[in-house]
Amino acid sequence: MTEAISGRAIDAQRFRRALALHAAGVVVITAQCEEGPVGLTATSFSSVSLEPPLVSFYVGRESKTWPRLREAGCFAVNVLAGDQAELAARFASRGVDRFAAPTVWELAPPGVPLLAGVSAHLVCALHSTMDIGDHVLVVGLVAEAHIDPGGLPLLYHRGRFGHFVPHS
Ligand SMILES: Cc1cc2nc3c(=O)[nH]c(=O)nc-3n(C[C@H](O)[C@H](O)[C@H](O)COP(=O)(O)O)c2cc1C
Repeated sequence: MTEAISGRAIDAQRFRRALALHAAGVVVITAQCEEGPVGLTATSFSSVSLEPPLVSFYVGRESKTWPRLREAGCFAVNVLAGDQAELAARFASRGVDRFAAPTVWELAPPGVPLLAGVSAHLVCALHSTMDIGDHVLVVGLVAEAHIDPGGLPLLYHRGRFGHFVPHS
């Protein structure tokens, strides 16, 4: 079996179509660097370890935000709520001030921008990174969390934002 697939790689378009079927929660990663706040939308967020408490996301090597996130040394994971699709789109757009109104945010200790109205914030210290393919794996050590226990998530599926509908 391994021999049958070794060295083969799926066609890029088919790969994207398959991945688009995986519904994912949406987060915005934020940090404060010398020039001010930076942030980007990501669906590659994942939990990694409970002890120590680690989380991860992948960022594209071409990202203009990534070098500034790395320089900041700490970041927040803002877990978006179901009604925050516009915010997600803004933090994925280039050529806009992502933190200008109508974005509502505050700078919280130890100096990380936190977005308002989210389901949860995870405040992280940059733990480690690894170059992998055309992305960088970024691992954060979680120092604290702020939680809205009633929060329902924003999801991304087949190129569209949507809501989570629990089974009754
Ligand atoms: C729903 C959605 C999910 C995204 N997930 C990621 C991601 O996991 N990693 C990533 O590097 N970019 C992701 N992006 C793209 C970034 O949000 C952003 O557009 C890109 O990094 C370019 O901006 P930058 O140069 O400021 O990084 C996603 C975009 C959207 C709309």
